[in-house]
Amino acid sequence: MRIPFLLAFCFIRTVVSTSPQRYESIFSFGDSLADTGNFLLSGALAFPVIGKLPYGETFFGHATGRCSDGRLVIDFIAEAYGLPYVPPYLALAKGQKFQHGANFAVAGATALDAKFFYDQKIGSILWTNDSLSVQLGWFKKLKSTLCITKQDCDNYFKKSLFLVGEIGGNDYNYGFFVGGSIKQLKLVVPLVVEAITAATSMLIEEGAVELLVPGNMPIGCSAVYLTLFQSPNRADYDQHGCLKAYNAFSKYHNAQLKLALQKLRPKYPHARIIYADYYGAAKPSIHAPLHHGFSNGVLTACCGGGGPYNFNNSARCGHNGSKACKDPSTYANWDGVHLTQLAYRYIAMGLINGPFSSPPLPSPTRLF
Ligand SMILES: *[C@@H]1O[C@H](CO)[C@@H](O)[C@H](O)[C@H]1NC(C)=O
Ligand SMILES: *[C@@H]1O[C@H](CO)[C@@H](O)[C@H](O)[C@H]1NC(C)=O
Ligand SMILES: *[C@@H]1O[C@H](CO)[C@@H](O)[C@H](O)[C@H]1NC(C)=O
Repeated sequence: MRIPFLLAFCFIRTVVSTSPQRYESIFSFGDSLADTGNFLLSGALAFPVIGKLPYGETFFGHATGRCSDGRLVIDFIAEAYGLPYVPPYLALAKGQKFQHGANFAVAGATALDAKFFYDQKIGSILWTNDSLSVQLGWFKKLKSTLCITKQDCDNYFKKSLFLVGEIGGNDYNYGFFVGGSIKQLKLVVPLVVEAITAATSMLIEEGAVELLVPGNMPIGCSAVYLTLFQSPNRADYDQHGCLKAYNAFSKYHNAQLKLALQKLRPKYPHARIIYADYYGAAKPSIHAPLHHGFSNGVLTACCGGGGPYNFNNSARCGHNGSKACKDPSTYANWDGVHLTQLAYRYIAMGLINGPFSSPPLPSPTRLF
């Protein structure tokens, strides 16, 4: 099945490449869901295994620093609009060119600054200090090399798509993984949402016009949550095997974020602030995995070190004692925490062709 699809894609590439481009560049902020190499380039040590196989085994054929077996949502968005894969900003020193945009996302990054976590005495568990505001700082630095006058910049950025996230998931992950309760973490939601909307406003003031702001994933269906928070009480699970309370938490964050974006839109009527419903886009695959091509289900990780969801904190994907499944294209969960290329493609389809971006993203310039 995979080969005909690739062939079809090559064909489409050559045929449609003369059509006018809606976007000429993509700028992206976020965490491991969008990182195309910054974490590795940053030299941080918490997650060195993303620098080797099996990460990248399905697409690219080698590790790129993406937390998956292949492409991410941002890669499929780039493909759909006929743009090259968005290069990681930290590759700048290596002579990368950025005329088609740059990716500032860093695996492990938080919406809130590292200081917040140090003040809570849990700073030592952060994988990275390159939070959203650090990433925005990088953007401002890069901007001065892309355009000079306000009019220059406005002209340049009006043809850019800005991805503001997914970001915020880690602010909660860190809290939950050190034993925080749902009640405690709910108090952090307004702060995270405020950080995301402040970043969105700042980017608009810098010239952004088209912005895609994703919500959180259904974390109650994630192998790491299912493993760490497994419960003997069947009532804690929904009919699909996901932890209800954690999914409700994701929905809570998403509802707050949507509301905040709604309040932002009248302030910037010239901008298109698009909410990307990652949760909704993932949901059909959770409700009917087989129907959507996930023949090994969506709850069990492809790559891991055993246990009911194949997530073992002492033998995570890439570490000794773990191994990758034979066919990642039958799984949604890649390493217990992140998704497979198949799942990211599925979500990207839901955003680009389906109803899960609102207002909708423009039609892709390439069949997708
Ligand atoms: C983050 O910053 C703190 C305080 O400056 C430092 O001790 C820590 O090593 C940094 N963490 C990472 C992953 O760079
Ligand atoms: C988890 O990994 C450790 C280290 O490889 C191993 O000793 C243990 O048996 C594994 N647990 C499960 C449930 O497979
Ligand atoms: C796996 O084990 C080998 C030999 O025991 C060791 O050299 C290597 O660092 C380990 N790799 C990881 C990722 O822990």
